[in-house]
Amino acid sequence: MFGQGERVVTSALVSRLASGVPLTVPPGVVDVALAAPPNPPEQVQVQFVGQSFERAYAEAEAFVTAVGEALRALGHPGLAGSRVLDLGSGWGRISRVLLTEVSPTALFAADVDPEMTALVNVSLPGINALTVAPVPPTVLADGSMDVAVAFSVFSHLSGPAHAAWARELARLVRPGGVVVITVIGEEFLDLVEGSQAAVAGGDSDGFTASVAAVFPDVAAVRARFRADEVQFGATGGGGVRTRDYYGWAVASRRAVERIWGDAGLDLFCWRPTGEPISQALAVLVRTERRPVAQAGRRARRSLRHAVGRSGDRLRARVPRPVRAVVRRVRRPRQL
Ligand SMILES: C[S@@+](CC[C@H](N)C(=O)[O-])C[C@H]1O[C@@H](n2cnc3c(N)ncnc32)[C@H](O)[C@@H]1O
Repeated sequence: MFGQGERVVTSALVSRLASGVPLTVPPGVVDVALAAPPNPPEQVQVQFVGQSFERAYAEAEAFVTAVGEALRALGHPGLAGSRVLDLGSGWGRISRVLLTEVSPTALFAADVDPEMTALVNVSLPGINALTVAPVPPTVLADGSMDVAVAFSVFSHLSGPAHAAWARELARLVRPGGVVVITVIGEEFLDLVEGSQAAVAGGDSDGFTASVAAVFPDVAAVRARFRADEVQFGATGGGGVRTRDYYGWAVASRRAVERIWGDAGLDLFCWRPTGEPISQALAVLVRTERRPVAQAGRRARRSLRHAVGRSGDRLRARVPRPVRAVVRRVRRPRQL
C-alpha cells in the first residue's frame, strides 16, 4: 500500500488506468420502482424483439403476468423472493418487468451476445448479467434457480440446442422449480407459405422474402412438425447468433412435452399462441422423482410419440389399456 503523499513509480498500465474519467455519480443498484432504467436505441429494441417501447413492454408485461399466474396455480411462492434466470435476455426487456418483483441480486440475465449483456450491465446495474455459450453448460450451480424464463428463445434454437438447454435448465432449477418458455407453432409455417406466395406474385418486401426462404419445402416441414419433431430453418441471426444453432424453429406441444420430459420436467400447462402472447407458452415443473418412476414416464412418452407418429392403423392395433395411458399423459393441465 502507498500513502497518498508518496511518489509512485508507475507502469504504462497503471498510468492508463489512472487516466480514466472519474464517475461523477457512481451507478447505484437499479430500482425500477424509483425510476425507469434507460432504454437502448429503438433500432436495437426492434432488432431483438420486433417492436419497441410501449408495444415491446406490453408483451413483456403480459408474459411476466402469465408467469405469475402459473406460479400461483402451482402453489409456488412466486417471483418475489425467488432466484430467477432470464435466459436469452437480449437488451433486458423481460428482466425490466421481472424487476418489479424480483430483487436485482436474485435476477440472472444470460445471453450469448456480449454486447447485450454489456447493455444490461449498464442499464440495469446490480443484476447478474452473464454471457453464455450457445450450447450449455453455464457456470451456474445445480438447483440454484427457483424459476427460469425464456421468451422467444426456443423459437430460434435448433433441435439439438433446444434439447441441450432443456437439460441445462432442468439442472439449474431446484426440485419444484419452474421453467416458462415460449415456442412458435404451425402458424409460422402458414406465414412462410403466404410469404412464398407473395414472392412468387412479385409482391414482397425484404422481410417477406427472408421469411419465404426459411423453409423451402413447407409441406415436408409441416409433416415433420405434425409428427412432433422440432423443425429448424438455419438462417442465423447476425453476430454471435450463427446458423449452426440459430434461426427459426417450430415445435408442437407434444414435442415440447417429450423433450422437456426427457430432461426431467413435466409440462404443467400450455397456453396456445395468442393466449395471451404472440407465442405459445409452456410452463414446466421440475419434479423430484425416483429413478424407476422416471424411467416409466420416459417409456410412456416414447410409446406415445411412436403411436402419435405411426398413424391411425397402428393406433388401432395398440391395446385399449395402453391407449388409455397414452391419452392420460397426453393431456397436461390448461390454466
Ligand atoms: C428474440 S430475442 C428475445 C430477447 C428477450 N428474451 C426478449 O423477449 O426481450 C432472442 C435472444 O436470445 C439470445 N440467444 C440466442 N441463442 C441463445 C443461446 N443459445 N443461449 C442464450 N441466449 C441465446 C439472443 O442473443 C437474443 O438476445
